[in-house]
Formats: sequence, C-alpha cells, structure tokens
Amino acid sequence: MTNSHSDALVFLGATGDLAYKQIFPALQGLIRDEGFNLPIIGVAKAGWTLDQLKDRAKASLEAHGGVDPEAFAKLTELLRYVDGDYHDSNTFAQLRRELGEAQRPLHYLAIPPSLFATVAENLAQSGCAANARIVVEKPFGRDLESARELSRTLHRFFPEENIFRIDHYLGKEPVQNILYTRFANPIFEPIWNRDHIRSVQITMAEQFGVEDRGKFYDEVGALLDVVQNHMLQVVSILTMDPPSGEECDATRDRKAELLRAVRPLTPDSVVRGQYEGYRKVPGVAPGSSVETFVAIRLHIDSWRWAGVPIFIRAGKMLPVTCTEATVEFKRPPRETFGEIVPSGSAHMCIRVNPDFSIGLGVRIKIPGERMAGRDVELDLHTQAADAMPPYERLLGDAGKGNVELFSRQDIVEAQWRIVDPVVGNVTPVYTYKPGTWGPEEARELIGADGPWTDPVMEGENR
Ligand code: BG6
Repeated sequence: MTNSHSDALVFLGATGDLAYKQIFPALQGLIRDEGFNLPIIGVAKAGWTLDQLKDRAKASLEAHGGVDPEAFAKLTELLRYVDGDYHDSNTFAQLRRELGEAQRPLHYLAIPPSLFATVAENLAQSGCAANARIVVEKPFGRDLESARELSRTLHRFFPEENIFRIDHYLGKEPVQNILYTRFANPIFEPIWNRDHIRSVQITMAEQFGVEDRGKFYDEVGALLDVVQNHMLQVVSILTMDPPSGEECDATRDRKAELLRAVRPLTPDSVVRGQYEGYRKVPGVAPGSSVETFVAIRLHIDSWRWAGVPIFIRAGKMLPVTCTEATVEFKRPPRETFGEIVPSGSAHMCIRVNPDFSIGLGVRIKIPGERMAGRDVELDLHTQAADAMPPYERLLGDAGKGNVELFSRQDIVEAQWRIVDPVVGNVTPVYTYKPGTWGPEEARELIGADGPWTDPVMEGENR
C-alpha cells in the first residue's frame, strides 16, 4: 500500500485563499499535463453549493494563469462539494459517503493550523483516515514545542510516511536545480568548503508589501514566514554533503544532518526591520512589533563549514523581487598584480527567482599595457523559473506517495531549533523606508564580511 496512488483528492478549506491562489490552478495543471482523473472533493463551511464552488474555481483560474477549456471541463466533472462545520461529525460522515469506493484518499488541509487536530480526529472517527495521506502547509507550529505537539497530534491518526508537509520552495524547479548542479558536476565539490569559500549570502527580496494578508502575517513575521522554512531549506541544499545511495530519503538525511549542525541563533546575530506603513495594513495590530524584514548570521559547526559565515536577509517592500544566493570565494593567497580587488569579486551567484541563473564572478584584464583588471560576471546559464509550478508538482507527488520533496519531522525540528531562541520580541525592530534594503543595522550585521550583494536585475550591470 505504501507507494500506491491515491484514489481521491479531498481539499479542506475549498473556499479559502490557498485553494483560490494555488490549488485550483494546480489541479487544472495536473489534469492537463498528467491526465489526473480522480474524484476531487472540496470541503468548507461557507453555505455554498457545488455550482458556487465551480464558479470559484473558474474565477481562480482566470486570475492565475488562465482557463484551459478542456481541462477545466474535466475539473468541473470531477469536482464535488461537502459543506459543513469542521467540528461536526456529520460533515465527515458526508465526506465518507462522497468518497464512496476510495481506499487511499489524499486529504489536503488548506485550513488554519488551529483546526488540524480537530479535523485529523474527525477524519479518523469517520473512517476517512484509514490508509489516507494528509498534506499540511507551513508553518508547522509556532516554535519547537508546538511543532512537536502538532506532530504528536498528526501521528495519532497518520503514520509519518503518510504525512506530507509542504514547503513550496522544495517544489521549485530552480531550487531543485541547485541540488542538481552541485552534485551532477565534478568541479564544485572540491572547492565547496571553508578552504575556498569566504562567506555565503542569501537574499530573498520582495518588492511588494503584506497587502491583504495582514492578519496572517502579523502573527508570523518574516523570520517564521520564510526564513525558518524556505530559506533554511535553501541553506541546507547549498551546503549539505552529497547524498549517498538511491533511497528517496538520502537527500533528506543529508539535509537533516546539515541543519542539526547549524548553531542556534543568538540575539546579536539577528536584525529585524519593519517597513514604514506596515502598521496601517488592515489586520495588523496598531502597535505591532512584527518584522517585515530580517537579516541573520548563521554558523555551521562542521569540518566543511567551520568559520564560514552564512548570511540571510529576507523582506517585503524592498527595491526588487528576487531570490538569490551568492557564494563568495577566497582571494588568491597574494594579489599577483598588486591590485586592490573589491570584496565579492570571486563569486558564484545562483538565482532562483524570478528566473534560474548561475553566474560566475571573475576578474579579466582590461585591454592595454597595464596588468590591471575588472570584475565581470560570466552568465553560465539562464532559464525560466518553473516548468511546472511548485504546487502542481507537489500535489502530484503527494498523490503518488513521493515524499522526497516534502519536509520531514526531524528537519522541521532542526529548523525550529535554529530560530527558537530569537522567536518573538527578543530583539528590537527597526523601521525602514519602503523601497530600501531594510534598516541600517543590517549593514552593521554583515560588517567586514560584507557588503551585502544586492541583486542586479535585467539591463543593469553588476
Ligand atoms: C510564502 C510566504 O510561503 O512564500 C509569502 O507566506 C511569500 O509571504 C512567498 O511571499 C514567496 O514565495 P514565492 O514562490 O513567490 O517566492
């Protein structure tokens, strides 16, 4: 039974935001690209009819990538709807009836985490959890303890191999490509260590603000929204040891090992910022001290990485939308041509958003008599970001029982262990102007290991 395909897809929270932005487009994509042909049952408490849910699906697709008439027709044919309260056992009895002959349903919990325990229990009591898979969304808990509690709750009804924890960064083609590029080429591994690398920087910049997500965001903040999960996944893929063996857990084992070697954060390795105007966003508390920007310095206590600082900064209302990692190489033991070379000159830059690219920073000689050079970036490769959108890939994988691109409880706990000491108001929050690179204090954090390398967008020169 372990790897058999799911035979029905249930998504709870069918009328909500996640379904609207991600799940309907993913389902249409799966039908169009993979011939997905299973009953799809939406569950929500909205007092809606099935026709209303179909209208919502159409509106979702119009707003996110467009309606494919054939695939959409199939989607509406497969779609069913159960309307009811998540606390009411009748809702789940009705769901069980809708599931009919299905033996291996996949339940996607696109609902607030506060409902997970109730829903998991009701799924179990109604017979909907037998042999079923369950998909949950980050954040997995609010700190290490609540993450453990959530895991205990889910494990009461679902064994670990049937729990799929979505971190959509893992479903991104460019993030997969970092892993591939590192381990499918022989030239990187010999230099991928403290002997050759001076520092690593990761920037996740978003030009937009919190917009209509004020209520959610104000309970989370940048550290828990994107660093504890997406950014630490990227760190682990960039710095993990090569996986060995063919097991689907080989990569996850190496990641877990790496994350366990990261030193927990201390207040002096964190700078938090909040953009001017954030407190006026609907849903945000008037005196909120939640951060919309965070910069951190990490250390990995391993032979490979001892002494190499890893910097991450992530924020909203920054000058551009771009996620990239810059690996800075050490300079030669002496500058043969007696030049003063700017820091960051020798580097590799891997961009994962808005497209995938790899650039190699090197010096080349300026034509003329003098042995003097300048920095250039060799554009090794550029390609579009997502051949298959992350949610489509991940939903398809969950249905097939492929766990590789999902987080695992020990990885989640290792990530919490890193950020736990600085969760909440442990450090001050500094204001920054929209359209800038966060508060001045972030520059002080990187200090002599910097400066931060700001992404260079199309048409600009580094
Ligand atoms: C989500 C966060 O997990 O990731 C958002 O909640 C963030 O705040 C988003 O904007 C970024 O994802 P992507 O795929 O647009 O880089």
